[in-house]
Amino acid sequence: MKFGHFDDAQREYVITQPDTPLPWINYLGCEEYFGLISNTAGGYSFYKDARLRRLTRYRYNNSPLDMGGRYLYIRDNNTGKYWSPSWMPTRVKLDEYECRHGQGYTIITSKLNGIKSSTRYFVPLGESLEIWQVTLTNENGSDADVSLFSAIEFCLWDANDDSTNFQRNYSIGQVEVDLESIGLPMKQEQAPALHKGSVIYHKTEYRERRDHFAYFACSEKLAGFDTQRESFLGAYRGWDEPAVVENGESCNSVAYGWQPIGSQHVKLQLKPGEQKQIIFILGYQENPKDDKFDPPGSQIINKKSAKKAIEKYLQASNVDKAFDELRNYWTMLLGKLQVTTPDEHTNRMVNIWNAYQCMVTFNMSRSASYFESGIGRGMGFRDSNQDLLGFVHMIPERARERILDMSATQLKNGGAFHQYQPLTKRGNNDVGSGFNDDPLWLVLGVSAYLKETGDWSILDELVQYENEAGTESPLYEHLQRSMQYTLDRLGPNNLPLIGRADWNDCLNLNCFSDTPGQSFQTTTNKDGNVAESVLIAGLFVLACSEMKGLADRYVERHTLNVTQLTFDVQPSTFYATAATEMEKTVWAAGWDGDWFRRAYDDFGHVLGSKENTEGQIFIEPQGICVMAGLGVENGNAVKALDSVGEHLATPHGIVLQQPAFSQYYLHLGEISSYPPGYKENAGIFCHTNPWIMIAESIVGRGDNAFDYYKRINPSAREEISELHKCEPYVYAQMIAGKDAATHGEAKNSWLSGTAAWNYVAITQAILGIQPTLDGLQIQPVFPCDWKGFTATRQFRGATYEIRVERQGKGNDVSLEVDGNPMTGSIIPLATKGSTVRVKAIVM
Ligand code: GLC
Ligand code: GLC
Repeated sequence: MKFGHFDDAQREYVITQPDTPLPWINYLGCEEYFGLISNTAGGYSFYKDARLRRLTRYRYNNSPLDMGGRYLYIRDNNTGKYWSPSWMPTRVKLDEYECRHGQGYTIITSKLNGIKSSTRYFVPLGESLEIWQVTLTNENGSDADVSLFSAIEFCLWDANDDSTNFQRNYSIGQVEVDLESIGLPMKQEQAPALHKGSVIYHKTEYRERRDHFAYFACSEKLAGFDTQRESFLGAYRGWDEPAVVENGESCNSVAYGWQPIGSQHVKLQLKPGEQKQIIFILGYQENPKDDKFDPPGSQIINKKSAKKAIEKYLQASNVDKAFDELRNYWTMLLGKLQVTTPDEHTNRMVNIWNAYQCMVTFNMSRSASYFESGIGRGMGFRDSNQDLLGFVHMIPERARERILDMSATQLKNGGAFHQYQPLTKRGNNDVGSGFNDDPLWLVLGVSAYLKETGDWSILDELVQYENEAGTESPLYEHLQRSMQYTLDRLGPNNLPLIGRADWNDCLNLNCFSDTPGQSFQTTTNKDGNVAESVLIAGLFVLACSEMKGLADRYVERHTLNVTQLTFDVQPSTFYATAATEMEKTVWAAGWDGDWFRRAYDDFGHVLGSKENTEGQIFIEPQGICVMAGLGVENGNAVKALDSVGEHLATPHGIVLQQPAFSQYYLHLGEISSYPPGYKENAGIFCHTNPWIMIAESIVGRGDNAFDYYKRINPSAREEISELHKCEPYVYAQMIAGKDAATHGEAKNSWLSGTAAWNYVAITQAILGIQPTLDGLQIQPVFPCDWKGFTATRQFRGATYEIRVERQGKGNDVSLEVDGNPMTGSIIPLATKGSTVRVKAIVM
């Protein structure tokens, strides 16, 4: 069953029924101001940091679902009937309803009692504000007398404190309301709190250390307003039946403590067929510390800084222009790669939604979604490096900045803080370090950046360790230390020690936690000198091959000046040798006969082997080791992938391991804390599936690769939305595995490494359009029954028009560039601004 459909021409998903299985959300903003918005206008907004600068309040895990949002109420003043044009929160049945989610905007349109309403929500580029552009149309044959009420609830900035520290927070809420253009008669006792303008300002804590405030403006003369929640809702009432809306009259309340809100009341008389546009702006503004108040010495917000934007965007023509700019911006970003294949799910995911999700994961890391509360996690070191992989071609400059921020948190020993805080850009001490895979992902991230841009100067950037002044060394040395970190930590079998965890956060082999509530990630009760990871071994080999490419060129460029390095520059042969050694180790200790083993535990017992009764085979090492090239020549790669097909594949995707852990095992940690079939305990952990797709394409099995791709492609799962539950336009982290009661049900949509890796798998492995250090490589491994496909790729300033034609069943590619046959599969770099026509014949 579907709850909407794709509109590919508009690049939108159109939801046609408000009660989707879960709120289906979208993101507003892609720079500094962000909002989450559901298909019924739920969600919240924040500036830069979802925890520390939250503008509006949202209630996670609430009942009814999805409470807190950008709410509007329409009241027919002739009958007294009122409803929400976004369905929530009143849930009054609408005659028409449609929600269109696009890139950075959402439009919710509905109709009831002959009043049509359409609201476009978006964040203009370069601004720290959001716009709600409401169009009301009277489609009745008679005059309409309607009231429009807006409603948001302010969050007192720190979302964590806001939801816990009530003894203080109930006393600190403060607003200012400017009524100049409203001309409302005010009660005398309220007068001192009021200042000029028709805007509601939220200024809690502005009197002391904060230099930021929020504002909520409306383009119309107001019939009234409210800023105290209880006045608006009425005692013991919910957002579904606010007393003010019921009565058709605002209280003009001014908040003093309790719960500051913003609600404006606009009265409209609409002739039959008449249309009226009303604009609301919710914005964030900072003032310099010494210019906070106007007049100086008073406690009144200096509003000059906000006024400009307010005046600009209360004019519809400027709003329309800003919206067009946003659309054009996305046309430009998505235009970096567009494909036309025989499969519509591939086309829309590659061309629109998967790329869009990559931008969102790059921006949010794992902080704010409907499954991530925005107060928990910082930016993950390994996560952000992987998120880069699907994003770097869109805005390489931002990837560069991210790489430098991240590597400045790296530890001197080459290890990494597992997370860093986006606002301070410092490593997070609570979580600490010791996740032994972390530093290797930096090598992959930097290498991807170099392949995309050829910007070798990044390796010369002087970057601190642990954000400590005086520790600067070229980024290249950070990479060397990352590699050395693994070599310095080898275990009894010469495999890399696992530390707290490798990619699988829940495989905690040094934890041994028997105390409820302890963190599996940060508790370690063993010194960690025994437990080893085959995944890290594979990842190390993969990182070696990236380092090989970088090392030669680095040496070439630095014949004279390597004085800044405290490490000897290792030649590429060093990494080649290290890789060979590690491969030998994997064959000796990490190969189980039919697949790669997973790990050795603290007792030196193998995991991910036929010797185990549960956890016999894990997906991660099969993917990563084959991606590193292990077993491609000796046939073991094919064996490992056949084992994946036999033991792990399901129609809904490939599960993480089998058999699932039936009980908690002290020596394995969190993985065995999950009920079978969920999350790391044999769930379909979608992040890992594209590794298998890439591995299948490496061994030349395009049909398999694409089959796995289709199984978890959200668009291809749209028809089973009632089972899948999450949005059909973005990937979720997890789909319940075959051991679960709800096999096929997805959870944790949006913020997952799944976005970047699927993008890489389909575009670089299956469609085979791969940036390399020397040029763009065309080496597709795609389904036998496809006659071919076309693609346009912007790469290093040139445009590549690619046409792939299948003439045989294999994967041999011969290229013709601008009409001339060439040898090899890498097209040498073209001059900037040129168009390169590529024809690839696949035999
Ligand atoms: C989550 C984490 C990621 C980890 C994965 C597997 O997605 O963000 O860092 O690799 O889970 O445990
Ligand atoms: C990762 C895992 C999750 C685990 C979490 C710990 O995100 O996916 O299962 O609970 O790390 O913070």
